[in-house]
Amino acid sequence: MNAEAGNDALDNLLTEERTFPPPPELVAQANVTEDTYAQAAADDEAFWAEQAKRLSWAKEPTEVVDWSNAPFAKWYADGELNAAYNCVDRHVEAGNGDRVAFHFEGEPGDQRDITYAQLKDEVSQAANALIELGVQAGDRVAIYLPMIPEAVVAMLACARIGAPHTVVFGGFSADALAARINDCGCEVVITADGGYRRGKPAALKPAVDKALESTPGVRSVIVIRRTGEETPMTEGRDVWWDDIVGRQSTEHTPQAFPAEHPLYVMYTSGSTGKPKGILHTTGGYLVGTAYTHWATFDLKPESDVFWTAADIGWVTGHSYLVYGPLANGATSVMYEGTPDTPHQGRWWEIIDKYGVTILYCAPTAIRTFMKWGHEIPEKYDLSSLRVLGSVGEPINPEAYVWYRHYIGGDRTPVADTWWQTETGMHMISPMPGVADGKPGAAMRAVPGISVEVVNDEGQPVGNGKGGYLVVTKPWPAMLRTLWNEDERYVETYWSRFPGMYFAGDGAKRDDDGDIWLLGRVDDVMNVSGHRMSTTEIESALVSHPKVAEAAVVGATDETTGQAIVAFVILRGEAGDGGPEIVQELRNHVAQEIGAIAKPRSIMVVAELPKTRSGKIMRRLLRDVAENREMGDVTTLQDSSVMDQIKGGMSASS
Ligand code: WT7
Repeated sequence: MNAEAGNDALDNLLTEERTFPPPPELVAQANVTEDTYAQAAADDEAFWAEQAKRLSWAKEPTEVVDWSNAPFAKWYADGELNAAYNCVDRHVEAGNGDRVAFHFEGEPGDQRDITYAQLKDEVSQAANALIELGVQAGDRVAIYLPMIPEAVVAMLACARIGAPHTVVFGGFSADALAARINDCGCEVVITADGGYRRGKPAALKPAVDKALESTPGVRSVIVIRRTGEETPMTEGRDVWWDDIVGRQSTEHTPQAFPAEHPLYVMYTSGSTGKPKGILHTTGGYLVGTAYTHWATFDLKPESDVFWTAADIGWVTGHSYLVYGPLANGATSVMYEGTPDTPHQGRWWEIIDKYGVTILYCAPTAIRTFMKWGHEIPEKYDLSSLRVLGSVGEPINPEAYVWYRHYIGGDRTPVADTWWQTETGMHMISPMPGVADGKPGAAMRAVPGISVEVVNDEGQPVGNGKGGYLVVTKPWPAMLRTLWNEDERYVETYWSRFPGMYFAGDGAKRDDDGDIWLLGRVDDVMNVSGHRMSTTEIESALVSHPKVAEAAVVGATDETTGQAIVAFVILRGEAGDGGPEIVQELRNHVAQEIGAIAKPRSIMVVAELPKTRSGKIMRRLLRDVAENREMGDVTTLQDSSVMDQIKGGMSASS
């Protein structure tokens, strides 16, 4: 564990003593009360059996959790259902076909309201198109799209026919896309000509064409027309969405699948180089996301307008833009672009326009808005907001208080939700009608969830102490395994503390027993709420012919939480660096992984600090990157290395 950084964070948090009680109107009608926690604690299986009734099952499950083959869980195993039917058709059948599922707002200002009835037609057509292309239950489909409604339609069409999707964030490079397509064995790709980003069309299809040079398994590509830009199409492989989807019937009878049928694979960075394919299945995932979307945000589906301001390419988009809200029959906002296009008030304009009642976003966005100034949101009517959510990284108390005050008008509880791609659903969060909010604290486990903070021996640390966050019982939306890597699943999550899920985060319980997250304890960085692996970026750097060795660290950054800082040793013939090589390497990382992985800075050094056993001491590099007094160097193989690096730093700056 990065003890020094952890302690700094702790000291700040310990001086934070403000609390904010929930508003009485919210308490009076709250979905979750203190009784809910008591019921769930008394019998969590009965609690999750009860929550399964939120869904419509073709065959009701009689089992809840099967943990007999731990850590491979089965939930509701004898139940059968169709995910798309649960997210769409049943709301239409219940008479809510005219309810808006999405208020879509394109970046250039185009808008489209999509009702549940329209969504049902479009999903059915897209499902029929996939069937025409020969996609069958179990086949994998890659989705590489901007934030447009067809992304939701494509995901649900796959779910409807039992074809697991793997959505690849549109900001990932062609190489990253190809690696995911190959690992997952996708045969069909759904993409678009492009999307709008910062006021301009940004092409996507060329990256697909490049990726497909090394993905022999892909036979069809469906291309959505979004920007209308000139787009090369490969005869016999590529088809326009309008052509193939447009001519299909709007009738499609959904088939029921077993609860444990795979729903999707989502790739995420781990502490080793290769991204992990997190597998989520159908029944438990839908129960977990539907329950938490309703509970954490105190959702009233008839009146709320919910907005998850996250990309569909991340798990937040999957769980709280698509599956949770749609399973609950909620109305959501979906926004394509960046927060400052065409002006820095765009988000607040959208909230004002649609009467958004619940906003869910990342602290990095909040810190950016703080920088831009509160005068901007003050120009808009934000009085519709009643609950705010935060996700992706620890929220610092300043950002929490600013968010609550300037965006929430001091009325709104702030739900700081801790969870992961792996957990699928919120795990730790205050419930808005119950907790007195503490700025910076994720507070306590969601009803029905069991977490603990333990020491190196796996023993609970008790109040007032820090340690490792673990989950002590299986939960409905948990990952089932890593795609094709059962052993790595066991090793990564279940071997550090036998019988407990090791999350990779440090945490602390305060004197009330409430939980505060302290950041990762492994080589994983968190940049703007996105998970980045130090080793993955190091491998990208050393794959460049001029680089001999690389070390990457996450340095504290005021806006993005952490920023990527790289130290590289060049090969002899490459010279001693200079601005051109730094630029070349940054671009190389963007090409290998994606622009989001570009290091903020790259330092060319002669040596890297290593222990006698050859392990890079990232802790010391982090000290340099953060301009701190250096920690203990006695375990260094050659302690003069750090002096050289620091000397180089001041020389280069
Ligand atoms: C990691 C998971 C959860 C969806 C988006 C990120 C960090 C997430 C919080 C929070 C402190 C948080 C953790 C976690 N994290 N939420 N509320 N407070 N840290 O999903 O990419 O799978 O990353 O994000 O370090 O392990 P992810």
